[in-house]
Amino acid sequence: MFYSPFTSLFVASVLTIISANPLPSPTGFSVTINRSFHQRPPVKSSSLPVCNVQPIEREFKGLQSKYRDVDKNFNNGINVGPVNTSAIVEDEAEAPFIPPVLVHTMPLDDYVSGNLDIMYYGPLQIGTPPQELTVDVDTGSADLWFPCDCPDCENKQFEPLESSTCEESNETFSISYGSGTADGQLMRDTVSVGGLEVRRQWFGAARSLQGDFNGLPNDGLLGLAFSTVAQSGKATFFENLIAEGLPPMFSMHLARHHDDSAVCFGCIDRLKTLDPGIVWISVLSKAYWSISMDAINVNVNKTRELQLATALRAIVDTGTTLIYLPEAVVSEFYAVIPGSTHVFQPEFEFYTFPCSTMLDIEFAFGQNRFAVNPADFNLGMTAPDSPDCVGGVLPLSAASGFPQDLAIVGDEFLKSWYSIFDYGSDGGNARVGFSPSINNAR
Ligand SMILES: *[C@@H]1O[C@H](CO)[C@@H](O)[C@H](O)[C@H]1NC(C)=O
Ligand SMILES: *[C@@H]1O[C@H](CO)[C@@H](O)[C@H](O)[C@H]1NC(C)=O
Ligand SMILES: *[C@@H]1O[C@H](CO)[C@@H](O)[C@H](O)[C@H]1NC(C)=O
Ligand SMILES: *[C@@H]1O[C@H](CO)[C@@H](O)[C@H](O)[C@H]1NC(C)=O
Repeated sequence: MFYSPFTSLFVASVLTIISANPLPSPTGFSVTINRSFHQRPPVKSSSLPVCNVQPIEREFKGLQSKYRDVDKNFNNGINVGPVNTSAIVEDEAEAPFIPPVLVHTMPLDDYVSGNLDIMYYGPLQIGTPPQELTVDVDTGSADLWFPCDCPDCENKQFEPLESSTCEESNETFSISYGSGTADGQLMRDTVSVGGLEVRRQWFGAARSLQGDFNGLPNDGLLGLAFSTVAQSGKATFFENLIAEGLPPMFSMHLARHHDDSAVCFGCIDRLKTLDPGIVWISVLSKAYWSISMDAINVNVNKTRELQLATALRAIVDTGTTLIYLPEAVVSEFYAVIPGSTHVFQPEFEFYTFPCSTMLDIEFAFGQNRFAVNPADFNLGMTAPDSPDCVGGVLPLSAASGFPQDLAIVGDEFLKSWYSIFDYGSDGGNARVGFSPSINNAR
C-alpha cells in the first residue's frame, strides 16, 4: 500500500488507478530532498498577468496527435536491451568522429508568452558548409526534422542544394506536430549541435507544414526520445552520438524567463543544480522517458491536505509546456482546493482556483517526492483583476483519446528540477535523474 513519511494533517482522499503495466523496482541511490525552497510567500494576485489560454489550447490539440499511438509505442519499448551501437553506425567508411572535449552545451532560447515559458529551442548546424537552423528540443518524440523547399513555410529552411554532403532518399516522412502535420521526405546529412557532429544523420525534410506551426520561433524539432517511437524508424541524433562514444546521457536546464537554459550532451552541468544529489528513477519503457508516478500530494494553506495514490505512466516531456494528468485524478486534485472550478471550452478543459490560495504540490516518483514551484503552477488570472487563476495541472480526458493511466510532465515541473536522461550508464538500464534546479535559488 502507499507509504509516505509526510506528517499529514489528514488524508482527504485516496484514489488508486490500476496500471496494466508492471512497475519496476527502484534502482540507483536516493537522497533527501531539501523541500524548503518551494515554500515561498504566496504570489500577490495584483502582480499576476492574465492567462492567455490560446497557447494552452494549441498544446492540448497537439498532445492528442503527438500521443495518439502512445500505447503501441509504449509496448514497443518494453524489453528493449541496451542501445546496439553496431546497428546504428551504418556503412560508415571513415573512423567515427571522436568528440574533442567532454562538455558540449546547446544553449536554449526560451519562447515566453504572457506568464508562460512556452518552449525551449536552440541552434543546430546542418550540411557542408553548415547552415544554422533552430530546433525545439523535445524528449517526447524521436524524429529530427525541419522545413526544406517548403513554399508555405515562414521560418528558416534547409537548402539541400547548397550542401555538398546532403543525400536525398525517396522514403517519405509525415509527422503530427502541434496541431498540424509536417510532410516530406527523408534525407541524410552532417548534423552538429554544440560541437558534436554526426555524419549521415537521417532527418525529415518537411516540404509542407499544415496547421499553426507558423508563428512559432523555432524552425524545426530535435526529438530526444528513444528511436522505438521515431516515425522515420531511424536512430536519433543522440543515439548516433552514443555510438560515437559520447557518455550515454544528456541533461537539461530549463530556466524561468532567463536566457541561460541549455542541454548538456554527454554531461551533467553541476552549476545548474542546487546540490549534488541526483534521484534516479527507472524508465518503464524505452519508448518515451516514462517513469512511474506513484502519488500526488497537495497542501492548501498548510491546513488542508490531499494524498492521492496513483499508478501512472508519466512521460517526462521537455516539448510540453504544462502538466497533464488523467481526468479523474485532476478532478480529485482540484476538489481539495476550495473555490476551484472546472471550465469547459469547445476543444479542451481546464480548472481555475482562487489566486490567494497557498499551494504546495508534489509528485512522487518511487519513494521520492518532487515539489512544483507554486509560481509555475499558477498560469495567471482568468481576467484582469479576477480573484481566480488558471491551474497548471490539466485533464487528459478519455473522450479525447488519452489512456487513463497517462501523465505528461512538461516544463512547468522541469523548471524546478534539473533533469538527466540516461540511456544506460546503469548497465544498460535507462533512467531519469532529477536534481534541485538552480532556478529555485533565484
Ligand atoms: C535548504 O535550502 C535552503 C535554500 O537553498 C538553504 O538556505 C538551507 O540551508 C537548506 N537546508 C538544508 C538542511 O540543507
Ligand atoms: C546489433 O546490430 C548488428 C547490425 O544490425 C547485428 O548484426 C547484431 O546482431 C546486433 N546485436 C545485438 C546484440 O542485437
Ligand atoms: C527510389 O525508388 C525507386 C523505385 O522504388 C528505387 O528503384 C530507387 O532505388 C530509389 N532510390 C533511392 C535513392 O532510394
Ligand atoms: C488561504 O489563505 C488565503 C490568504 O490568507 C486566504 O485568502 C484564503 O481564503 C485561504 N483559503 C483557504 C481555503 O483556506
